[in-house]
Amino acid sequence: MNPIQLFDPASSTYTYLLFDTDSREALIIDPVDEQLDRDLFVLRDYGLRLVLAVETHAHADHITSAGLLAEHTGAHTAAPEACGIRTATLQLHDGAELAFGRERLRALHTPGHTAGSMSYVWERAGQHHVFTGDTLLINGCGRTDFQSGDAGALYRSITEKLFSLPENTVVWPGHDYHGRRSSTIGAEMRSNARIAGQSREEFIRLMGELNLPKPRRIDEAVPANLQSGLRHDADGAALAAVRPAEGYAGNITPQLAWAWVQSGEGVLIDVRTDAEREWVGFVPGAVGLAWKQWPGMQLNTAFDSGLRASVLPGKKALMLCRSGVRSIAAARRATELGLEAYNILEGFEGDPDEHAQRGRKGGWRFHGLPWRQG
Ligand SMILES: [Fe+2]
Repeated sequence: MNPIQLFDPASSTYTYLLFDTDSREALIIDPVDEQLDRDLFVLRDYGLRLVLAVETHAHADHITSAGLLAEHTGAHTAAPEACGIRTATLQLHDGAELAFGRERLRALHTPGHTAGSMSYVWERAGQHHVFTGDTLLINGCGRTDFQSGDAGALYRSITEKLFSLPENTVVWPGHDYHGRRSSTIGAEMRSNARIAGQSREEFIRLMGELNLPKPRRIDEAVPANLQSGLRHDADGAALAAVRPAEGYAGNITPQLAWAWVQSGEGVLIDVRTDAEREWVGFVPGAVGLAWKQWPGMQLNTAFDSGLRASVLPGKKALMLCRSGVRSIAAARRATELGLEAYNILEGFEGDPDEHAQRGRKGGWRFHGLPWRQG
């Protein structure tokens, strides 16, 4: 039995519905928000009970309906743990198994298109199926030039992980732009134009020379998808809006800042003190450049030179502090230095709540964006 393959023409996205014939429990992979009604209809039509809504990665080209499906059907949401989709109930690691009835879907970490990207393997009646998301497409593969993409990692994921599946494994891609519906591992090993017969070095060079346009919906889609497509406080357009400011390029949400970091357009500058970053937490990959520094919270005399060294011409400087106050001063200074600078609203911790506790009313951590401690 094959999965039910559904198509969203606006984004050329394939959504897959798998189910267990006895219990009628179902699992959906990469659902699209505009297709929510269709998917609910298909579930009803087949007499299925949705138990899991699973993402292959945080998509840049469409918004997921996983969160909405969970509200409508009671399904759990699942996403690769390294994708930063903190709203997903199940954070999947390599090898994790998802159960629907007596069926099992196995997660295979296949980084490269994004650092967190996963493929999913379904073995049914001796036949293997693999849902590859944007990792492996029919006669192609996902791009690697934004969203923590890495062509070398993608090469390893495809050649070492996917190509070690049985050759007759059916490949079900996340997209196809030419009406093709599935392929096999063997066919892609022999004839995939991007990767068949290519060395790792050749593949990396090829991927570096693609010069693809920026995905049309990335600024809206990535922030929304980091919340399973649920937009509690604002819709995607509001999250992606630049709000006007005096003396610098604008105020932006933490979600838009993260989208710009992932697309490579912006550099995140954390202007808190070294002590705050160390004790409260920090954003991986951000430049630590204090606006004021202990002792005495004097202005950091190395701020200007540090900024010039970290933000190359043509990139946006995205200023992050604790609650969005120091970052305004830093964004103004960066503007005086000739940079396109933005203040990130709410900062890392957000404003204090009525109990003087930070981190519960907004801010980078509150919105579930990636951060670490220690
Ligand atoms: Fe993608």
